Amino acid sequence: MPDQNRIGKGFDLLTPIYDACVYLIFKNTFNDLQHEALSSIGSVENCLIIGGGSGQILRSAIDLNIARQYHYCELSEKMIAKTKNRLSPEENQLVHFCADYNSINQSFDLIVLPFVLDCYPTRVVSEMLSKLKKLSNQKGQVLIIDFNEEEISGFKPNSIQRLFLKLLYFFFKVVAGIEATFLPPIYTLCNKADLTLVRTWSRKKGWIRASLWTQD
Ligand SMILES: C[S@@+](CC[C@H](N)C(=O)[O-])C[C@H]1O[C@@H](n2cnc3c(N)ncnc32)[C@H](O)[C@@H]1O
Repeated sequence: MPDQNRIGKGFDLLTPIYDACVYLIFKNTFNDLQHEALSSIGSVENCLIIGGGSGQILRSAIDLNIARQYHYCELSEKMIAKTKNRLSPEENQLVHFCADYNSINQSFDLIVLPFVLDCYPTRVVSEMLSKLKKLSNQKGQVLIIDFNEEEISGFKPNSIQRLFLKLLYFFFKVVAGIEATFLPPIYTLCNKADLTLVRTWSRKKGWIRASLWTQD
């Protein structure tokens, strides 16, 4: 496993500017996609969010009343602090915050992975998916929101999109010490992990995708 402490500290550094940079480049694309996907999922008892950053996705999930209880695992302490600030004292009571999902010993109806698998190389994503399957209830769902470079439904990334991701990986390697040097093939890895695709939502013609998976 890559050095999680280093990744957390790297994203600590980025916390004050992260959301503004995302907005500058993508406007509300990420939030809209996350909101659309979450609003199509019925309410569940409990939800685990891993790598939710400054908590915009948790804010959406709570606004949509997605779950009665949440686990929010985020390596960056500063991102967690920003997330807590988005919530009222009563809403904070609904959430258990932690850094590392490996310390969890309960299972979930819904696991949400927003732009976090892209921090890891293919081998690590495979390991993460098998661990996460164990944290998922038998009828549990996994919602993944991330970039995509795989040729799905006729999509092919153009040269600007490829270049953008190359630069992004260089940036996150330097600042956050991520081990990945390119986007892992998330769809292929989910299929290999025996997850079943239920539904997808996309932006930018399929470059950015949300996908819902189950273990059935
Ligand atoms: C690329 S950022 C995405 C943040 C947010 N989801 C968004 O879309 O704006 C990745 C986030 O995942 C967190 N992260 C990376 N690996 C993690 C792990 N194994 N467990 C929990 N959080 C992790 C990082 O600290 C960072 O905040």
